[in-house]
Amino acid sequence: MKYFKQFVFVLLLTTAFPLLAEVSVSSLNLMPFPKNIVVKTGEFRLNADFSLALEGVGGQRIYVNATRMLRRLSNRTGLFFQQDFITAETRSDTADMIVKTTRIGRLGLGEDESYKLIVTPEKVTLSAETDLGAIRGLESLLQLLSADENGYFFPAVEIDDAPRFPWRGLMIDVSRHFMPVDVIKRNLDGMAAVKMNVFHWHLSDNQGIRVESKSLPNLQSMCSDGMFYTQEQIRDIIAYADERGIRVIPEFDVPAHCAAWMVGYPFLASGPGPYKIARYWGVFDQTMNPAKESTYEFLDVFFKEMAALFPDEYLHIGGDENTGKEWSANPEIQAFMKANGIDDNHALQKHFNLRVLEILTRYNKKMIGWDEIFQPALPKNIVIHSWRGYKALDETARKGYMSILSNGYYIDLIQPAEYHYLIDPIPEGSTLSEEQKKFILGGEATSWAELVVPETIDSRIWPRTACIAERFWSPQSVNDVESMYRRMEIVSGQMEELDLQHIKNYDYMLRRLANGNDISALKRFVDVVEPVKIYNRHFQGIKYASFSPYTRVVDAARPESMTARRFRKMTDDFIDNKNVGVVPELTAMLQSWKSNHDELKKTINLSPVLKEIETMSQDLSIISTVGIEAIEYVKKGKPAPDKWLAESKSALAQAKEPRGQAELAIAPTIEKLIRSCEK
Ligand code: ACM
Repeated sequence: MKYFKQFVFVLLLTTAFPLLAEVSVSSLNLMPFPKNIVVKTGEFRLNADFSLALEGVGGQRIYVNATRMLRRLSNRTGLFFQQDFITAETRSDTADMIVKTTRIGRLGLGEDESYKLIVTPEKVTLSAETDLGAIRGLESLLQLLSADENGYFFPAVEIDDAPRFPWRGLMIDVSRHFMPVDVIKRNLDGMAAVKMNVFHWHLSDNQGIRVESKSLPNLQSMCSDGMFYTQEQIRDIIAYADERGIRVIPEFDVPAHCAAWMVGYPFLASGPGPYKIARYWGVFDQTMNPAKESTYEFLDVFFKEMAALFPDEYLHIGGDENTGKEWSANPEIQAFMKANGIDDNHALQKHFNLRVLEILTRYNKKMIGWDEIFQPALPKNIVIHSWRGYKALDETARKGYMSILSNGYYIDLIQPAEYHYLIDPIPEGSTLSEEQKKFILGGEATSWAELVVPETIDSRIWPRTACIAERFWSPQSVNDVESMYRRMEIVSGQMEELDLQHIKNYDYMLRRLANGNDISALKRFVDVVEPVKIYNRHFQGIKYASFSPYTRVVDAARPESMTARRFRKMTDDFIDNKNVGVVPELTAMLQSWKSNHDELKKTINLSPVLKEIETMSQDLSIISTVGIEAIEYVKKGKPAPDKWLAESKSALAQAKEPRGQAELAIAPTIEKLIRSCEK
C-alpha cells in the first residue's frame, strides 16, 4: 500500500507539477562530491517503517555503520524507526534499503572504496565490492537527506563513486597539546563523514611522548607530563578508526623533534643537556645520537613494541627539521663520521634513516617520513610525505617513489577553505607522465597543535578539512568555490551530530570571555574577526607555551569569517557588477557594526580579558561608518573628496593593525569600497 501511494504521488509530481519534483545536481549537499551522479525523478520518502537489510558478506563494519546510520537518521528526523540493531541476521527481501557487499575490505593502501547508490521512489540500494566502499556510501546517503513540507526524503539519484586518491589523511599533533581520547574519536567520526581514510597520529615531539610503552616505561613516566595514551586506549582508538574505514599511522619523529625522549633516556642525546620537556614552540636542536649503537638498540626495542601495537603496514618516522647543530658540536659524532666516510650531517641522517629502516623492516613495517628522509638508497615501498611542496613531490614521483602532499594543507596556518581547496596534489599542467602521477597517493591535512587545545581543535580542523577531503576524493574538475562554500556550511552543521565542537564551543567561549554577561555585541564583533595568519601569531609580542591560555578572542574567532566573506561577496557584486540591489543588506551589516562598539564597550568594562580588543572594536565601528559613506559616494557616481579619502585611508590603516593576534576580516573589503570612490 505504501508503495502504491508513493507511486501516485510521484506520478502527480512528474505530470501535474514537473518543476516541483526537480532536484538539480548542483543543489545537492554532497561533500565530497561523487564521481558520477545522475538525478532522477521523484524521491524516496522516509517514514518510521523504514528498514534496511544486508546482502552478501556483511561484516562487523557494516553492522556497526548501518546501525549508526539508522540512529543518525532517526535523530535528525525524529522518526521512531522500528529497526534497532543491524546484525548478521538482518536479511530481508522486503526491506526499503539493501546494502550489498561482496567482501570484507582490507584496511590498507589502495583498497577498493567504490560504491554505487541508487535511490528510487521505492527503494534504496547501496552496493559495493567491499564493506569499506559501503560505509562511504552510507555517508553519502546521510548527506542526501532532504526535507520539505511533506516530510523527509532522499532524492532519487544514481551515484557511481570512487576516490580519486587512495590516501586521504588528517594528521593530528598530540604532542604540543595532548588531545584526550574523546577528541580523537569525534575527529575520526568527522573524517569518516567526509570519506577520509588515514589518521596520522603525531605522537611524539619535543613537548612530549604520548604513548605508553611496556618496555620503555620512562617514556610515559618522565617524557609525557602524565599525558599519554595507554596501550588499551590506543587499541580502542585503532578499533574505532577501523570500524570507520580509517587507517591509523603513528608518527614517532626521529632523530630531531626529540627533546622529550632525552628526559627519560639521556643516553639518546647528541648534546650535553640539561634535558627537559619543551614548554615553548620552535625548531629545537635536541637530536638523537646516530653514532651510538645504544640509540639503535633503544629504537629496536621501541619500534618492535610499536609495530605490534599499531597494525597498519606503514609507520611514520618524521625525519624533519634536523638543525644538525648538536651533531656538528659533538666530537664523538664527528669522529664517527670521519671513521665511516660520512661527509656531512645530511649524509649522517641518511645513515640514521637506513638503520631505522632496517629496524622497521625487521618488524614488517614500511616507512613513511617527511621530505627530508628521501634518498635514492631507500626501497620503493616507502612513502615520502611532502611538507615542502610540489617540487619535492614531483622529484620523488619521477624517481618512482610514492608520495603524499601536505604543503598547502597546513590547517594550523588559519587560511581560508578555498585556499586549501584549490591546491591539488597533481595540479593541472603537471608535467608528470600518467605512470608517474600514480605515485602521488593523495595528501593529508595537518593539525599542528602549538595553538590548539581540546576546546578549540575542532574549529581549526572543521569545516575546512571537509573541503580538503573533497579535493582528495572527488574528480579534479570538482572545483567550484561557491558550490564548495555552500556545501561546506551545510556539512559543517551536520557534523555537530558527531559531537564535534567546532560550532558549539564558539558561544561557550564567548560567554566565558564576556564574564557571564550578554554576548550579542561580542559575537557580532568576533563574527568578523579572524586570528592572524601563517605563523604571525608567534611574532606579535606574546611567547606562547603549552601552559598558556588558549581562551582569548583570537582563540574563539573562526579561522575564516563567513560573515566577512558574505560581506565581501556582496560588495564585489555591488562594485564589480553594479548591483545596487545588495545595498540595503550591505548597509544594514555596516550599520550593525557601526553601532556595536557602544554596546560591546559595556561588556569590555566588565571583562578585563577583552581589553586587548577594545580599540579594534572601536575601529570596526569607525570603518563601518567609512563603508556606509563610501557606498553613498559610489551610488552617486562621484569621486569622494580628497579629505575624506585621506581620513578614511588613515582610519583603515589603523583598523588593519592586529590586536590580540587577531584582525578585522572585513578591512580588505572596506579598502575596496574606499578605492571605488577614488577618481
Ligand atoms: C614539518 O612541518 N616540519 C613537517
